[in-house]
Amino acid sequence: MRLLPTALTLATALAAFTAIPAHAQAKLKVGLMLPYTGTFAALGTAIENGFRLYVNEQGGKLGGREIEFFKVDDESDPAKATDNVNKLIKRDNVDVIVGTVHSGVAMAMAKAAKESGTLLIVPNAGADAVTGPMCAKNIFRTSFSNWQPGYATGVVAAQKGYKKAMTITWNYAAGTETVKGFTEAFEKGGGKVVKDLTLPFPNVEFQALLTEIAAQKPDVVFAFFAGGGAVKFVKDYDAAGLKKTVPLMGSGFLTDGTLEAQGASAQGLITSLHYADNIDTPRNNEFRLSYAKQFKLQPDVYAVQGYDAAQLLGAGLNAVKGDVSQKDQLYYAMGKTVLPSPRGKLAFSAAHNPVQDFYIREVKGKENTNVGVAVKALADPARGCKL
Ligand code: BEZ
Repeated sequence: MRLLPTALTLATALAAFTAIPAHAQAKLKVGLMLPYTGTFAALGTAIENGFRLYVNEQGGKLGGREIEFFKVDDESDPAKATDNVNKLIKRDNVDVIVGTVHSGVAMAMAKAAKESGTLLIVPNAGADAVTGPMCAKNIFRTSFSNWQPGYATGVVAAQKGYKKAMTITWNYAAGTETVKGFTEAFEKGGGKVVKDLTLPFPNVEFQALLTEIAAQKPDVVFAFFAGGGAVKFVKDYDAAGLKKTVPLMGSGFLTDGTLEAQGASAQGLITSLHYADNIDTPRNNEFRLSYAKQFKLQPDVYAVQGYDAAQLLGAGLNAVKGDVSQKDQLYYAMGKTVLPSPRGKLAFSAAHNPVQDFYIREVKGKENTNVGVAVKALADPARGCKL
């Protein structure tokens, strides 16, 4: 008789345990494929920090599931991208991939995600094709398409009354697509792009191209560079004496996460992007404080995009109570969510690309400060996407 309560208690405990679905007992496998070396290394770290910050704020769980991370350094090398992404898909058997920074690498990842049906969240790379012809139910982006910041900056340059522009960038998808967006808006606003200058990614030998800019004397130069390359470009532009004679503009990556290293050379530069450091909302202030406390660093746009990748995944997982096998419901919930991003409200287009405001930013001290809105609720045209 004295055994009975114990047996009952055991049975109750066992019943309660077996009532927890199998998926909720296992950890959710998240594959981070990001650059941890090379010119975009700092961007990869900021994205991972942002992602982890949100997970930590949720007590280490998303949709009730603990997270297990698997990491691959993609080196921003498209030639290694397919092998690298398959380490996560085939070897580690991850539930979701978060990556990456470089557009060329992201296109290989999108192809592999589409073929394998693995959920992919892109926390930076802007390759237009990812939410264009390659768009898929299981592919989402929390950053931008390359067209978007290029277009927004073109609007601002035309509004400033510049008529003759030269562009300069790395010759790969992010560079050429951003320049295309800039040209579309700038020429619609009455300007003319007279010359496009390029160099191979990730080269930073800018001298010959700067000499050409000095010779042509356009009204404005539009540049797409990011990370270590952006630091060197902005400093070289200044050192060549061009900052005083030909205004330099860029999509905001030119001065994001780089101001400490660019110092005086970046002061006063005008860019456009979907984030500005001093957006004065409780959400952004709370995010910045929390990030600075946890990582002893100031956050940048890449950290925001990583944070929002985790928020997006969390929103989807909450809708299916952590059960990633309910794919249709998961993707539907992710597509319909409106996230309280540090950048402002973040909604997604039918192609799963952000629809968002683009700010005009001016570098003041160590901040990209918000000095206006370039375009409200800018949506990528998603050319070629059939979903
Ligand atoms: C890209 O390759 O898509 C990219 C890299 C750095 C900043 C922005 C875009």
